Amino acid sequence: MNIMKGRAFRATATAAMLAVFGAPVMAEEIFYVSGAVGAAVENFKTLVKPWEDATGNTVTMVPMPASTTDQFGQYRLWLAAGATDIDLYQTDVIWAPQLADHFVDLTDVAKDLVPTHFPSIIESQTVNGKLVALPIFTDAPALYYRKDLLEKYGKTPPKTWAELAETAKIIQDGERAEGKADLWGFVWQGNAYEGLTCDALEWIKSYGGGQIVEPDGTISVNNENAVAALEMAKSWVGTISPDGVLAYQEEEARGVWQTGNAVFMRNWPYAYTLGNGDDSAVKGLFGVTTLPVGKEGDASAATLGGWNVAVSKYSTHQEAAISLALYLAGPEAQKQRAIAESNLPTIIALYDDPDIAAAQPIIPQWKDVFLNAVPRPSAPTLGKYNEVSAKFWSAVHQTLSGEGTAAENLELLEVELTDLKGSGW
Ligand code: GLC
Repeated sequence: MNIMKGRAFRATATAAMLAVFGAPVMAEEIFYVSGAVGAAVENFKTLVKPWEDATGNTVTMVPMPASTTDQFGQYRLWLAAGATDIDLYQTDVIWAPQLADHFVDLTDVAKDLVPTHFPSIIESQTVNGKLVALPIFTDAPALYYRKDLLEKYGKTPPKTWAELAETAKIIQDGERAEGKADLWGFVWQGNAYEGLTCDALEWIKSYGGGQIVEPDGTISVNNENAVAALEMAKSWVGTISPDGVLAYQEEEARGVWQTGNAVFMRNWPYAYTLGNGDDSAVKGLFGVTTLPVGKEGDASAATLGGWNVAVSKYSTHQEAAISLALYLAGPEAQKQRAIAESNLPTIIALYDDPDIAAAQPIIPQWKDVFLNAVPRPSAPTLGKYNEVSAKFWSAVHQTLSGEGTAAENLELLEVELTDLKGSGW
């Protein structure tokens, strides 16, 4: 990584800046590192343009792999080394307690902006009173379904996972008999990474099996309902979901879905606007609903996701970086992001914004879903969350791959987590 070579103070002051300040102003080049799915890199250029125009600074996005797990590994290395190359990091909602020491406290500079955000999201980025990152969007997944196919087979969006599997199979069989050899019933994220933790938490929680580690720190994952939930997911692999689903992340699932080759998909709201794009085979053909439950009466569970912007303590451009962070977390950028990328805003008032509702109906529809979403156990497990999650997704991935039963793998996981916890998280 040799960003420093690219960084150069631009001594060229614009005429406007000269007029305002009376003397040449050094424009700064700011580096922002972020994972990229969908059209994020292209959209980012448009997103930061008003800030660049207003300040005379420029922003360069350093794109990272799509996987949040890969990003975390890289960021941890850079931060541990005190890298000055990166000014701002786009951070996952689960990282705040683990990376808090490396970021600037934004409490004071954001004091006017913070009250406009949902308090629970601000809370998730606050560690021992320090505001380590500012929310730029929140996330809660949807069950995407093909309206046209459900209608053709006289089906309605499924309420339970069993119903989903049944409907998926009927439509898959019917369509294949008509020559659609590549059609699958259900695509989701089965790769061994953080995304699988999200999917599996949803299966388990919606089966009444708890949330891996409970908010009070108790390890709860080894229970009958969790076993049943994982066995159910295993039964999908090779039947209604391709074997390849065990290597899918968000973008692979979206690829199958958007070429018209899936009846159902579990994905985050970013897939909504892309699915309605002109190059999408499913444009106008799909709806979204909440994820199914284990049995009637259980509550649907959506894992809480979301992204934030944090200013590196090691940045040598902190003032400009803070200004950019405030801009990205503010109403103008959040509105643009909502309209262009169907990302859920974290600013309360934007849920009543008519332009957003007209462009992306999923956004007002999803307010209650994210407000009731299930957090991963990053708060109770503190600095150990990444290891907890890695052990969990490995146990799930093994189960899905047929390496041991769900009961065996969860029993072993409980032992490992107990060991990791030691005398306390
Ligand atoms: C989404 C979520 C993020 C989660 C990731 C898992 O990007 O917003 O919180 O960790 O998916 O793949």
